[in-house]
Amino acid sequence: SEAEAKLLEAASVVFVLGGPGSGKGTQCERIVAKYGHTHLSAGDLLRDEVKSGSELGKQCEAIMKEGKLVPMEVIIGLLRAAMVRSGGSSFLIDGFPRALDQAEMFERMVKPAELVLAFDCPEEVMEARLLKRGETSGRSDDNAATIRKRFETFVSQSMPVIAHYEQLGKCHRISAIPASDKVFEAVQAVVEGKAVATLAPPPDED
Ligand code: AP5
Repeated sequence: SEAEAKLLEAASVVFVLGGPGSGKGTQCERIVAKYGHTHLSAGDLLRDEVKSGSELGKQCEAIMKEGKLVPMEVIIGLLRAAMVRSGGSSFLIDGFPRALDQAEMFERMVKPAELVLAFDCPEEVMEARLLKRGETSGRSDDNAATIRKRFETFVSQSMPVIAHYEQLGKCHRISAIPASDKVFEAVQAVVEGKAVATLAPPPDED
């Protein structure tokens, strides 16, 4: 509708990216507490859909257990609806886009992001965090086999998205290894415009 289009036109969007267990959700909670963005987590929206018991939810559940990506129409549809429903104007979108085609479709159907935060974390650290969380979270994807598949999906499909935003000069890479307080200090510098975007490395570098 016209009202929806107006709301989205006025909105600003920040993407929060990083591997499974890098701390996206943890940092987003802090950002929201301090700056008041509207936080939308792609994974939470999908888990809500699963909980609703819908046919779509059932299909998503099977894909998530495999550590793969749900179809992009599904996640973009859920995100757009949640943006409109929230009535917010400053969005922090966590866990999206996870593939280049998602980024492209969101830009076309919704709008380009102003800023991208990308958390860097070694797999051993992320795995340890997820296995620990799995003891209490009840998340069916926090087991060793699914975690491995989530890492594979991240490397093959989501790392190119981070590289893409680096090329556009919109991406800020932040080490997610230290304690959450320390990570948040780096996040604040970025959100407050005190940090310079990281540039894509030259082609011959690892
Ligand atoms: P999603 O829910 O997004 O999962 P994820 O990316 O694997 O990320 P997590 O929520 O597991 O971790 P996080 O980075 O938020 O870390 P957290 O703060 O929780 O996606 C789940 C699935 O949904 C996907 O696999 C896919 O199937 C589907 N999906 C999602 N988005 C999609 C999309 N765009 N397209 C298609 N499909 C999609 O922290 C983890 C743990 O570590 C916590 O216990 C936390 O307390 C701890 N911790 C955090 N930071 C620190 C720190 N600095 N030091 C020590 N511990 C820490």
